[in-house]
Amino acid sequence: MKRIVIAAVLVALGASAAVAGPIEDRQQLMKNVQAATKDGAGLARGAVPFDAAKAKAVLDVYIDASAKLPGLFPVGSDKGAKNAADPKIWSDMAGFKAEAAKFGADAKAGLAATDAASFKVAFTKITADCTSCHGTYRLKQQ
Ligand code: HEC
Repeated sequence: MKRIVIAAVLVALGASAAVAGPIEDRQQLMKNVQAATKDGAGLARGAVPFDAAKAKAVLDVYIDASAKLPGLFPVGSDKGAKNAADPKIWSDMAGFKAEAAKFGADAKAGLAATDAASFKVAFTKITADCTSCHGTYRLKQQ
């Protein structure tokens, strides 16, 4: 009996996940990353006085995203909703995971920044990771 209940719950969860779906989830994740990048750019430029807590808030969004990103591209999720995932993600999942891992590692390294100048160095590396991953694994926007 217990088993049947658990199975029913799993089916229900699966159904609700299909409504939101990995495409929407990863696009929302990227939108959050984009919003954090605006804050990060302000700190890196010195437009906002350096504040370690604010820098950490930005970097935490990246670290979290880098951990979640590879799991949001299950096989078959190139279809279902409009998306810009390049087929290379699935033909070279190891390379894609490596890009995500580098992004996370560079974000973690940024936690050591103590002022705007050192944050800027770390932030520049991180934004190069966005460009690098998008260059290979994200389709050009129509
Ligand atoms: C490991 C690879 C990878 C990294 C690193 C990465 N992205 Fe992305 N990003 C993608 C992929 C793939 C898509 C397309 C997802 C889709 O359409 O399903 C995307 C989509 C986006 C989008 C569009 C989201 C939408 O509304 O559909 C934005 C904005 C974005 N990324 C910003 C960033 C920024 C800013 C960074 C760095 C701070 C970054 N990304 C780092 C892979 C990456």
